[in-house]
Amino acid sequence: MAIVKVDNLSVQFAAKGGIKTAVAGASFALEQGETFSLIGASGCGKSTILRVLAGLQRDWKGDVELMGNRITAGKRFQGALRREVQMVFQDPYASLHPNHTIWRTLAEPLKIHGESEIEARVAEALEQVGLPSEAAKRYPHQLSGGQRQRVAIARALLLRPKILLLDEPTSALDMSVQAEILNLLNRLKQLHGMTYLLVSHDADVIAHMSDRAAFMANGVIERSFDRAALVNGEHRMAHA
Ligand SMILES: Nc1ncnc2c1ncn2[C@@H]1O[C@H](COP(=O)(O)OP(=O)(O)OP(=O)(O)O)[C@@H](O)[C@H]1O
Ligand SMILES: [Mg+2]
Repeated sequence: MAIVKVDNLSVQFAAKGGIKTAVAGASFALEQGETFSLIGASGCGKSTILRVLAGLQRDWKGDVELMGNRITAGKRFQGALRREVQMVFQDPYASLHPNHTIWRTLAEPLKIHGESEIEARVAEALEQVGLPSEAAKRYPHQLSGGQRQRVAIARALLLRPKILLLDEPTSALDMSVQAEILNLLNRLKQLHGMTYLLVSHDADVIAHMSDRAAFMANGVIERSFDRAALVNGEHRMAHA
């Protein structure tokens, strides 16, 4: 069963001199447990699609189903969906509050969702991403880029999501740290049985991570690649 179904999704923005169509009737589906990636040139609409699926972009048209629930444009996500879909952003520095300790960053979402045993859950979250428990006392600027992205991943996992939306999760990191974070993401996916929707500019990252990928241009999906095509490197040509 498809865990994410996107049919004919369109997103438009009011822009100078008229309307900007960011997503122009994109359709795709994710099977449970797979990593599906979106590739394509800057501005083709990848992040906008992820923002719709995260409930951050509420103005859109089309049919979208998450975990069998049809979502409605203009509305906040209801019930379990609010925890089941989480997003990790490209720039962990921008996505973490600079004046909040890591403890606060991780404890707050748990409190908002009425969870108990906050202390144990924060400790578990840090441990899962390979950070020492004393990292909780620090502020984002007191961590390395890779550690900050580990915190962002820990925060995304706190509510035990089923679907993780990863928007260029390692492109702000240097190569060796990038590999560590990608391997961490793969381990966590196995451990928790998650499904990933990944955006990356990097053809190696796509080949390493994905079961399938789709190439976008001008707000639509132009081509899809199965695992064999990715192993063959066919997506590299499309991306060039
Ligand atoms: N809030 C917004 N208001 C106006 N235009 C927007 C807004 N968000 C995105 N756009 C425009 O929509 C188009 C798609 O943007 P999007 O961020 O989805 O691209 P992308 O594929 O993620 O690009 P990149 O690879 O550079 O991250 C771009 O032309 C962008 O300028
Ligand atoms: Mg983007």
